[in-house]
Amino acid sequence: MRMHRKDNLDARLAACADIMTGADLTEKNMKKAAEMKAYLDYAQLFGNVAPVHMEVGCGKGGFVTGMAQLHTNVNFIAVEKVSNVIITACEGAKALGLKNVHFINCPAEVLPRYIRPASIARVYLNFSDPLPKLGYAAQRLTNPRFLNMYAAMLCRGGEIWQKTDNEEFFDYSLQSYSECGFKVEEVCRDLAAHPFEGNVITEHERKFMEEGRKIFRAVVRVNV
Ligand SMILES: C[S@@+](CC[C@H](N)C(=O)[O-])C[C@H]1O[C@@H](n2cnc3c(N)ncnc32)[C@H](O)[C@@H]1O
Repeated sequence: MRMHRKDNLDARLAACADIMTGADLTEKNMKKAAEMKAYLDYAQLFGNVAPVHMEVGCGKGGFVTGMAQLHTNVNFIAVEKVSNVIITACEGAKALGLKNVHFINCPAEVLPRYIRPASIARVYLNFSDPLPKLGYAAQRLTNPRFLNMYAAMLCRGGEIWQKTDNEEFFDYSLQSYSECGFKVEEVCRDLAAHPFEGNVITEHERKFMEEGRKIFRAVVRVNV
């Protein structure tokens, strides 16, 4: 289903330029685009050298803004490919006056352009599209091509925290983590039955909880 383009989207994106790196998609080949390095300078963006956590596929930003409010000693980067969606997240962060969040409006494939190797302490993958059809496996955000990309961006001992409602996708992800040399440290197959303190509920998580669906969660560590 095609989403209605938000009113004045370009002007609204421009108004968020202070907290968002916009998608420069002049180079259509994503591999080439990823090679055109334009690393973000975290010290300049955030004014400090606190650890950086990154959410990939942040949607409307409920999770990252919630986390940023709870963890003021962490800097957050939130990535979303759809401008029409990330604008809600950016405007939400601006309304809250958050200084420890920066957004990147780009497909995850292009992230190596902006993210320096070994500079991220934790990656969050929340309710990533499961893309069940076999032909789309390479687009899944836990496909080995993305896991290898995160591994290069993660600091020594860095982690990925994943939540999903889709058991098949979860099992696929666990297999991908092992294939790519991540150490699987936590696996939870029913988050409601085994809650953990500090869980920030995402937009999709709330919807799935209301539908009574099980939420799956994993924590994996880059192998050091
Ligand atoms: C199902 S939504 C989940 C949104 C949010 N994380 C939540 O839990 O409510 C998945 C989001 O990931 C984004 N996404 C999917 N593939 C992506 C990619 N390759 N790069 C960046 N964002 C992506 C989609 O546009 C969508 O907003």
